[in-house]
Amino acid sequence: MMHLGISVTHTLALSLALVTGALAQQPFKSEVITSHQEPWAIAFLPDNRIIVNERRGNMRLVDPATKTAGSITGVPAVAYGGQGGLHDIALHPDYANNSMVYISYAESGSGGAGGAVARAKLTLSGTGGALSGVEVIWRHSQRASGGLQFACRLLFGPDGALWISSGEINQMTPAQSMTGNLGKMIKLYDNGTAFAGNPFASQGAIQSQIWSLGHRNPLGIDWDAQGRLWEVEMGPMGGDELNLIESGANYGWPVVCEGSHYDGRTIPKHSTRPEMTAPKAFWVPVISPSSLVIYKGNLFSSWKGNAIITGLSSQQLVRVTITGNTAKEAQRIPMGKRMRGVREDKNGALWVIEDGANGRLMKLTPN
Ligand SMILES: *[C@@H]1O[C@H](CO)[C@@H](O)[C@H](O)[C@H]1NC(C)=O
Ligand SMILES: *[C@@H]1O[C@H](CO)[C@@H](O)[C@H](O)[C@H]1NC(C)=O
Repeated sequence: MMHLGISVTHTLALSLALVTGALAQQPFKSEVITSHQEPWAIAFLPDNRIIVNERRGNMRLVDPATKTAGSITGVPAVAYGGQGGLHDIALHPDYANNSMVYISYAESGSGGAGGAVARAKLTLSGTGGALSGVEVIWRHSQRASGGLQFACRLLFGPDGALWISSGEINQMTPAQSMTGNLGKMIKLYDNGTAFAGNPFASQGAIQSQIWSLGHRNPLGIDWDAQGRLWEVEMGPMGGDELNLIESGANYGWPVVCEGSHYDGRTIPKHSTRPEMTAPKAFWVPVISPSSLVIYKGNLFSSWKGNAIITGLSSQQLVRVTITGNTAKEAQRIPMGKRMRGVREDKNGALWVIEDGANGRLMKLTPN
């Protein structure tokens, strides 16, 4: 017994030393702002305050100056469970004039849970606020039990379009079906109507929403300086992907993948189906990409144009350089915790949130 106790102590001391050593290599200083229950997403308000979505359905208003968090009421009921709950938050491009925000979340109904996107007016008062006029503008065309792989990141494009990265809620083959919107990149107007010029518009109403297909769990989307859309998605056992998203392209899930199924069954590689679009970078073993920023600021000057990816199981920030149409992993920065999200503020600082209970919101600036 004594021997066991001693070796456990030694192992702990060794791993603490490794973690401390690893974190000391971080190329930035991190300022802890607030702590949250299962934070999922962040958005910056024009007055420099920050909205933090917590997965159980709580929307918080953080004031970085005082490091305090108030509450925003009026969030619709969310299906909390598995990976589901309150997910992303995005401000309308004209938020300064219309106070409209967009949220994504898992909602329950017959057949299980599916993803939904709603818009609402945000009224701020004191240290908190309220949503009103909540209107659902998009839904998954199918629901499922299990509560997995909703994704549903939200992003407004340079042309004012609203993008939704729709997960396949662990149903696999619907990612290839053109009669449903699971496992797709969706491009809409701000009112939920399909955007004009979408590649499958001639095929029907649901098809008209779709920009690309064959996605599994697409948890991060962002623009590069040229206006190209990049996306990260979680593969199954191996095969996490960074994709350059193009109109009408099929990214292959679940027909092709660089990983394999959890039960060990193999999946043909992308090279076997050249008509499907292969990722620009992939990871075996996985990093578990949970969000993506294509860095546009000047603060981290050598990172301009790089993809910054937060990892859950890897507990890292993964930095990828993009050159033309190619992408290559350049750096892994240990964070010591499962990382849920990253956003860049208007001054080029990076803000990250950790996953899970007491997940911290932190501001990263160069050393
Ligand atoms: C708000 O509206 C004014 C004019 O009505 C316009 O000049 C301004 O660009 C708008 N703000 C944003 C953030 O679009
Ligand atoms: C949604 O917005 C688009 C673009 O502004 C517009 O053409 C369309 O009529 C709107 N749809 C509805 C139902 O309001």
